[in-house]
Amino acid sequence: MIKSLEKLRLEALAELEQVSELKELESWRVRCTGKKSKLTQALRSLASLPLDERRKIGSLANEIKVDLELRMDEKKKFLEEEHMASFLKQEGLDITLPGKLMPTGRLHPVTQALDEICSIFTRMGFQIAEGPDVEWDYYNFEALNIPPEHPARDMFATFWVDSKETGESARLLRTHTSPMQIRIMEKEQPPIRVLVPGRTYRYEATDATHESMFYQVEGLAIDTNITMADLKGTLFEFCHCLFGEERKVRFRCDYFPFVEPGVEVAVECLNCHGKGCRLCGYSGWLEILGAGMVHPNVLKRVAIDPEKYTGFAFGMGVERIPMLCYGIDDIRLFYNNDIRFLKQF
Ligand code: PHE
Repeated sequence: MIKSLEKLRLEALAELEQVSELKELESWRVRCTGKKSKLTQALRSLASLPLDERRKIGSLANEIKVDLELRMDEKKKFLEEEHMASFLKQEGLDITLPGKLMPTGRLHPVTQALDEICSIFTRMGFQIAEGPDVEWDYYNFEALNIPPEHPARDMFATFWVDSKETGESARLLRTHTSPMQIRIMEKEQPPIRVLVPGRTYRYEATDATHESMFYQVEGLAIDTNITMADLKGTLFEFCHCLFGEERKVRFRCDYFPFVEPGVEVAVECLNCHGKGCRLCGYSGWLEILGAGMVHPNVLKRVAIDPEKYTGFAFGMGVERIPMLCYGIDDIRLFYNNDIRFLKQF
């Protein structure tokens, strides 16, 4: 009995060796290990044997069964792999061919600068607000303490949508983001801390340093007891975050009708570190923003009591920052949409 079982095993393995296709493998399984196979029959006939022979032979028959099944699984895996390889060869699919590179997009350098500015001020507790590009004369000028014949209107070469003779209700493309100061103070009560990024427009010939559309970020803080020291502290901190701790920052008097006193902030030239070069016009300083304490007339206009509340405002051009940081010498490059330029940032 033991001999004939061993013989069955050898025969089955020899046949398995000959199998070369998955279909044949199935018929081999039925023949050698299936219900009607000699092996199964031998297992069934065990019942008629005496006990200790039954044990010995039974465990051998079982071992053979397990062994055959194991060999069959190995064969199956081998045949499947072979089948796949020949299929791929037939299809002419070369999986070693490198794939095509998908170009990845990136943020525009001006968007990157806006994100960075916003993140510095939001860390200080400012909230972000946005306003309309098409603005009323009232918000862009009148409410900012710039009445119709005020000479400061000349500072802002304006694109008019309506005839400017229409006065307060004439529409224009906002020349700065400052009109949002009024819109916010009309709606909100102090304490206020907001930051307004957005597009602004000036009716000017374009050249290396002027575009008719550019970005500004406006800041406004109104509360009790806000002083010039808060303005200086906030803007010093901002300049140090953006340009580095060791860079010198300069405050000087400047004039804007909607602030009193008004200041201009400059940082030590990034290129020459204050020695004087072409980038800074040989002054050693780069002006980056205008600011000041909100004028009492402006507060009165929006029914905020200037005896009780004070505040500061600032406004900065955005393109100037990547221009200074990367040494870009023409603002028009930002809006030509030349991918070779844009993908460097
Ligand atoms: N709006 C001014 C400009 O465009 C900048 C500014 C904003 C100055 C806020 C003072 C306060 O030049």
